[in-house]
Amino acid sequence: MSQPTIESILHEERLFHPPAEFSQQAQIKSLEEYQQLYDKAKADPQAFWAELAEQELHWFQKWDRVMDWQPPFVKWFVNGKINISYNCLDRHLTTWRRNKAALIWEGEPGDSRTLTYAQLHREVCQFANVLKQLGVKKGDRVGIYMPMIPEAAIAMLACARIGAPHSVVFGGFSAEALRDRLVDAEAKLVITADGGWRKDAIVPLKDQVDKALANNSAPSVKNVLVVQRTKQTVQMEPGRDHWWHDLQQGASADCPAEPMDSEDMLFILYTSGSTGKPKGVVHTTGGYNLYTHMTTKWIFDLRDTDVYWCTADVGWITGHSYIVYGPLSNGATTLMYEGAPRASNPGCFWDVIEKYGVNVFYTAPTAIRAFIKMGEHLPKARNLSSLRLLGTVGEPINPEAWMWYYRIIGNKRCPIVDTWWQTETGGIMITALPGAIPTKPGSATLPFPGILAEIVDLDGNPVNANDGGYLAITHPWPGMMRTVYGDPDRFRRTYWEHIPPRNGQSLYFAGDGARQDEDGYFWVMGRVDDVINVAGHRLGTMEIESALVSHPAVAEAAVVGKPDELKGQDIVAFVTLEGNASASDELKNELKKHVANEIGAIARPGEIRFADALPKTRSGKIMRRLLRSLASGEEVSGDTSTLEDRSVLEKLREG
Ligand code: WTA
Repeated sequence: MSQPTIESILHEERLFHPPAEFSQQAQIKSLEEYQQLYDKAKADPQAFWAELAEQELHWFQKWDRVMDWQPPFVKWFVNGKINISYNCLDRHLTTWRRNKAALIWEGEPGDSRTLTYAQLHREVCQFANVLKQLGVKKGDRVGIYMPMIPEAAIAMLACARIGAPHSVVFGGFSAEALRDRLVDAEAKLVITADGGWRKDAIVPLKDQVDKALANNSAPSVKNVLVVQRTKQTVQMEPGRDHWWHDLQQGASADCPAEPMDSEDMLFILYTSGSTGKPKGVVHTTGGYNLYTHMTTKWIFDLRDTDVYWCTADVGWITGHSYIVYGPLSNGATTLMYEGAPRASNPGCFWDVIEKYGVNVFYTAPTAIRAFIKMGEHLPKARNLSSLRLLGTVGEPINPEAWMWYYRIIGNKRCPIVDTWWQTETGGIMITALPGAIPTKPGSATLPFPGILAEIVDLDGNPVNANDGGYLAITHPWPGMMRTVYGDPDRFRRTYWEHIPPRNGQSLYFAGDGARQDEDGYFWVMGRVDDVINVAGHRLGTMEIESALVSHPAVAEAAVVGKPDELKGQDIVAFVTLEGNASASDELKNELKKHVANEIGAIARPGEIRFADALPKTRSGKIMRRLLRSLASGEEVSGDTSTLEDRSVLEKLREG
């Protein structure tokens, strides 16, 4: 098969084969090899994962049973003993990788730091001892609210080393959102920094922590550790707050990794769902370690000399799995960048690629669309010839953005892996393997070996090729979430009850609509629940609505997404006001600011529309479908017969 060029191909038929020289050196070299792996895994998933677990990871003690599946609760590698920090660090120290760069870090102001495996190991051991000194024990939860600095990864690995589950909270979340998460996780300690650099400004992280803990509102938190990053003045509460460097200095570098049960909790990560409160997604140790290890190895196709860069923030699952755990478990060099493209340096990403000779680059469609807008002269002015593989994650990528990424960044040489997955899945589920699977712009292509994915209707029946349906996973996999922290019932309801079991087998409901084409390729369309995806950030409409109604002027609020060229979706809020409040532009701005204060700037509505009333069914349910049409300026179509008061719709339409 010859390789098609973009120019010669019709839209529907575009298929890009991996370049021969890429395939020859790849981990998985051909479609046939992928197919064999896939078939083998499908025939006996347990044997497939067990073989890899044995080959690829260090276990202090082997498991008795590969899998224990009591739907919807699964255990992998039952009674196995393992430590992910050991797999990410210690085991590389007895190899030539000892002095290989583990972490290359570039700060936004241009400072930088490289830690070899031996150095990273030392820092992690010392910091693990600091945590112990402050009374953190196996099983205690630790909050991490950090900028993108090496200490964020050190903190995560140190927690993992002593068996204290971490809960990383994205540094862009507000004090209120941080407090909610610390309270839900009952965190004993919080690790933060005086501030972090973001778009030429300092994010005052420590101040937010102070607000979150004020008036003893997160009583479980006994200590706060503060990294000095920006050196601006912060309040240090005696007895509670400590400087990282003060304690780190004197700490012993001897801290053996705690043998953890395979099913011991590794971390909690909060994510948005359909209902109000963000849920604490729980991941455990052995299965997550194996799953992030294998997906990193085969999808990013890492070679020993590679510099690999994932642009996510460690506050999201992508940062957990593909900046920290997956790459380090593989002994790779992972790059961490504190900054973001900004007016003063819109080409900063390309500078970083050129400076460090990045080989594998993983980013989000929303970033790619922003790059397109900033202009191709920026990447073109840099030497990007080190790149050999590109990836995307977070939302569906539109074919135009895919083609731009392919042509301008990859110079038509680099395969693109469009990776579909979720906080809940722990690692990538549907993706091309870059040396094996031909790609189609806009499709995440095929399931990773060991992942059984299907498009079904709400009865669990498979739909025909090219028919839309719900994306479901029909067999447990090692990286899957184990439960919602403190709420197993919510876990069951959210993921396992939308689709009934089929022949006794439970199906995992991903919450995404998708179709499979005649080649079996998956095309993910987007969420089918009340979750919106704004610039790759996942937000629940209910969270934003609760934030709005907590403002005294607001009576009722309904939030929907509308298509946005740059962000994928933008937030539109329909708001009715309390009797004595009056609609004004000032109030609109105030409400936007209020949401940013309550949740974080990522949740700030793009548009607020005041209304006399919201369209509701006779049973009082807000008809979001109508609001979505109104917000995106479409004709309101479909059935409106259940609408209680038809004049509401007319008024909203008139605006
Ligand atoms: C969406 C991010 C299409 C999807 C790793 C999913 C995608 C949600 C893709 C999870 C992709 C992620 N193509 N849609 N390649 N990747 N999504 O939990 O709607 O922040 O359900 O995890 O992002 O978002 P989360």
